[in-house]
Amino acid sequence: MKNLIVANWKCNPKTAKEAERLFRKIPFKKEVIICPPALYFHLGKKVVLGSQNCFLESGAYTGEVSPKMLKSLKIKYVILGHSERRTYFKETDELIKEKVKACLNEKLKVILCVGEKKGEKMINVLKKQLSSFKKGVFAVAYEPIWAIGTGQACDPEKAEKALSLIKKETGSRVLYGGSVNSKNFKDYLKVGFDGVLVGGASLKIEEFKKMI
Ligand code: 13P
Repeated sequence: MKNLIVANWKCNPKTAKEAERLFRKIPFKKEVIICPPALYFHLGKKVVLGSQNCFLESGAYTGEVSPKMLKSLKIKYVILGHSERRTYFKETDELIKEKVKACLNEKLKVILCVGEKKGEKMINVLKKQLSSFKKGVFAVAYEPIWAIGTGQACDPEKAEKALSLIKKETGSRVLYGGSVNSKNFKDYLKVGFDGVLVGGASLKIEEFKKMI
């Protein structure tokens, strides 16, 4: 199994022109999955695309995107449960569980995000977040919240503890995310992660190309 690089662009870049420019510079590889804002999907013609989020179904749900819509655009991957969705958009484990189910029903490949806040006990948080997902997700991304966007990546040895727990609980691929860059990403692969989920560094093309 080859290592994966999943790029989470979050709500970036600011304009379609910039997104187009960035897409153009990313070399195609099956293992490199780009998750742009949904409005930019159509600009990513030569990359493997993933969604940053998804709702349960089509219908009267203003502002949402459904699993069937992603499928109809041939978008195979979907990130669910990102900590920014949990924090800013109040997504609960219950809702995330429903979303995972809805996406699996459409045979989408789910990348489920888990991770603890500063001061929380990693094992307890992960066990709770994973309790309803024993099987079926394509990958679980361990993203300690305190490491996201802070430049303070998790110590690989410490992350390895989360990796073992996630493997034991789900048997799925495990990615690491949180301040990943071209200098530290290999450290996570060395301790056994199956790839990385990259935020900020995926928007800097030179940095991102080095990882690819
Ligand atoms: P950063 O790489 O910017 O820390 O973001 C990580 C992340 O949230 C990816 O989903």
